[in-house]
Amino acid sequence: MFLPSEQIIEFFPEYRSTQIAWQGLTPIAAWAIIDLKPRRVVELGSYRGDSFFSFLQAAQSVSELEDLVAIDTWEGDQHTGAYVEDVHKQFHTELDSRKDPRARSIRDFFVNAAQQFKANSIDLLHIDGAHDYASVREDFETWLPKMAADGVVLFHDTMVKTEGFGVWQFWEELEQEYSGRCFNFTHSNGLGVLCLGTSTNGDFRNLSSLGAVEAGVLRDVMTFAGERVTKSTTFEAKLITRNGGEIGNEHVFARGLQRVALESARDVEAQFGLDQVAANLDRRVEQLVSQQSGDIFAALKPQLDEHARIVADARFEFLRKEHIGISANLRKVFKRNKQ
Ligand SMILES: C[S@@+](CC[C@H](N)C(=O)[O-])C[C@H]1O[C@@H](n2cnc3c(N)ncnc32)[C@H](O)[C@@H]1O
Repeated sequence: MFLPSEQIIEFFPEYRSTQIAWQGLTPIAAWAIIDLKPRRVVELGSYRGDSFFSFLQAAQSVSELEDLVAIDTWEGDQHTGAYVEDVHKQFHTELDSRKDPRARSIRDFFVNAAQQFKANSIDLLHIDGAHDYASVREDFETWLPKMAADGVVLFHDTMVKTEGFGVWQFWEELEQEYSGRCFNFTHSNGLGVLCLGTSTNGDFRNLSSLGAVEAGVLRDVMTFAGERVTKSTTFEAKLITRNGGEIGNEHVFARGLQRVALESARDVEAQFGLDQVAANLDRRVEQLVSQQSGDIFAALKPQLDEHARIVADARFEFLRKEHIGISANLRKVFKRNKQ
């Protein structure tokens, strides 16, 4: 089995800021905490706390965790820009409301804060500070001696190649240096998972041993899990900006479609034959569409467009077929409903 439990896939952060950049990765944050059961977790770059508070939320069921530390100047950097509001104060209001003595923050530059940590004392490190090549490399090299031998390092923004972003480049170098110990989630700007040691304890440490098709299905599932979160935030923003005006049912339908895709991925995981997967998919799509009311085409359009895009980019033959299947089925059912 290579997909995480429902607890992980269904993880939904209690705290969300208006920034969706990290929110799609929160189920993976939960997976890391629940599976690795780290004693000390350090985050370099916490900003409004989307990643940090999801680590903390997941740790509610992890008694091994003793110390979860957010480090940031809370001044901003070249990509976030200088903060105009008191982001630090808002972060602290949220942190204080948790009343969890295991969580704390250090307001300083990463390089200064590193002096407060002993060698080999950190089990999980999340690097999400400045994103140029030199900064991410410096952050990693400064903190590497502080990591436990079997520690795990997460890198945000491994997929961003726009001007000034160099995490992708450093990540490519790490993939060479730590061959067989890296796995990259590609949604929400990318999250690289680097296992420093050779321990194979738990599912999270074994991500890099997945075959190409399994890895592709897992990436799809975690993308859906993340979209559940980000789409909620954008939908809420729409509700607020439309000031109670009419909203279509795209959001509800998108959730249903994600559920269908997830159940399909579970069929793949259970190694059902392709015919069985396709038959189940047909049945689920029929059910989903029959439950909808209102202007179904308006609801389906963005999903069909998205599937067309996935089909065009698909790297895996199996997934390509699966997505073509979903699109074809949707179109078929939609046409019948319109008649
Ligand atoms: C992309 S944001 C972090 C996003 C956050 N993880 C989230 O979930 O939204 C990067 C943060 O790193 C901080 N930062 C960048 N370089 C820093 C450094 N050298 N020392 C301390 N903080 C730094 C910035 O102030 C900014 O708040």
